[in-house]
Amino acid sequence: MEKLLDLISATVSGAFAAAGYDGALGRVTVSNRPDLCQFQCNGAMPAAKQYRKAPIAIANEVVAQLQTDEMFSKVEAVNPGFINLNLSETALADYVGRMKQDSRFGVPLAEKEKTIVIDYGGPNVAKPLHVGHLRSAIIGESIKRIYRYFGHKVTGDIHMGDWGLQMGLIIAEVQERHPELPYFDDSFTGEYPKEPPFTISELEEIYPAASAKSKVDAAFAEKAHTATYLLQTGKRGYQAMWDHIMAVSVADLKKNYAKLNVEFDAWLGESDAQPFIEPMLADIKEKGLCRESEGALVLDVQEETDTKEVPPCILVKSDGATLYATTDLATLVQRERDFHPDKVLYVVDKRQSLHFEQVFRAARKAGIVRPETELQFLGFGTMNGKDGKPFKTREGGVMRLERLIREVTEFVYAKIQENNIVEGDAAMETAGKIALAALKYGDLSNLATKDYIFDLDRFSAFEGNTGPYILYTIVRIKSILSKYQGDVSAATIQPAANDAARDLMLALTRFADNLILCCRDSAPNILCAYIYELAGYANKFYHETKILTEEDPQKQAGYIALIDLTRAVLEQSIDLLGFSAPEKM
Ligand code: ARG
Repeated sequence: MEKLLDLISATVSGAFAAAGYDGALGRVTVSNRPDLCQFQCNGAMPAAKQYRKAPIAIANEVVAQLQTDEMFSKVEAVNPGFINLNLSETALADYVGRMKQDSRFGVPLAEKEKTIVIDYGGPNVAKPLHVGHLRSAIIGESIKRIYRYFGHKVTGDIHMGDWGLQMGLIIAEVQERHPELPYFDDSFTGEYPKEPPFTISELEEIYPAASAKSKVDAAFAEKAHTATYLLQTGKRGYQAMWDHIMAVSVADLKKNYAKLNVEFDAWLGESDAQPFIEPMLADIKEKGLCRESEGALVLDVQEETDTKEVPPCILVKSDGATLYATTDLATLVQRERDFHPDKVLYVVDKRQSLHFEQVFRAARKAGIVRPETELQFLGFGTMNGKDGKPFKTREGGVMRLERLIREVTEFVYAKIQENNIVEGDAAMETAGKIALAALKYGDLSNLATKDYIFDLDRFSAFEGNTGPYILYTIVRIKSILSKYQGDVSAATIQPAANDAARDLMLALTRFADNLILCCRDSAPNILCAYIYELAGYANKFYHETKILTEEDPQKQAGYIALIDLTRAVLEQSIDLLGFSAPEKM
């Protein structure tokens, strides 16, 4: 279905043409003075230059063409040449009624379907998930859902950090504790045990212990480095240990991401890129793109137009080791082979922006991606505590994601216990949903690039610009709908009976344009701002309108249809943001 602004613009363009002017001048926008009118067209101003005539004269001629059009209840030319427009109640009701019939609420699919890879999550295997990984998961998941809604083919790739020193540290530590295990017996040729030699909680203890030890014990650090090297060069027993670490960690990661309502299509990691490194480096060398610098192999990425220095991309260190950038380049080789993407979006901490700048430039220079492939870095800011410093536990340690989710859920649980609305097991489930909304909306409602302050009280409040407020709005609507005697699905939109109804209807018509912007800019905060506004109009409407006691059945059905559509748009929106509403709260 056509967007409302396109429909109105087509009519106004027709009027420009009928008055003898270029129809393209008839572009209509939402009014920036809602107190004066609903929509406006400023085309008479450029027309004045083009046709050497006073803008108000042109506006008057266009208005004359529109005066009898049933689409509008008001068409007015005001100085110096604005055309102010209000939709007629029937035209508005007709449009909103059609939105209600449409499963996409009037949101068009993208004109061109793209294949997109989103690189988000980025947890480091065997290291606990902490809040730094929270933002990537929350933002990436939402953008993935938004892209998909527009019909794009999206692969969400978790891109685990599964190939670094942490693996060597774990192997070295397990070896010290259990030297008798077959993984460490070079003469062992049999099959290694199926069962891992540790549980996830043991693994979570092993890594920090090993990491701390390596800082004070040089011999141990050396062992860990050697283990990393031997693992990466294919030592059989270490490979088997790595498989165990991965199996145990991935199962745990899946559990944690599921709690966040975050899903990945591809569980790939840095290790999966390794086979692509050798051929990639050979190709780069053959093309003569790299040079040697103090024993290292580097690729220059500085460009003439740069105002700041962009250091070369280091591909191989002097000791032969490859780096983060090498792996990211090889991952692009693999993505090109497997997905042939039109776009690759990285949702990563903004402090990694230089890294990605270098990788993108190197990938283009080396022809790893096609010239038309879009490489985009969406760098997010830090989640800070109330002290303005990176968020920590009360004891000052690194906050683990699991604990954060648990604390938010318990906080919300206590709150809804006070209200006495939901009981028993349902209360815990409800608390979980509200907590997720608080956490995710608190994050997504900010411009991603900005730092923000995590404020549990504020994020979980039922009033204000919060996730729980949006849920509360949905739940209140659901409660009215459940009390309605008639058939909700048969109720149809009626012309607005009061100002609040009209405002709500107009807000609904803005869904498509807001979502299009949100997708274009990969900016879930635009959708948050929109639903906050929509929820405000919905609350105002049912405060000012007696819905359940309305005696005229047709009028009442119109109210029901209107709030039901509002509920559907809100629920669709929060699904795109990655959370859902409970039945009661
Ligand atoms: N594992 C990395 C970290 O924790 C994030 C990975 C981001 N993605 C990428 N393709 N480099 O910092």
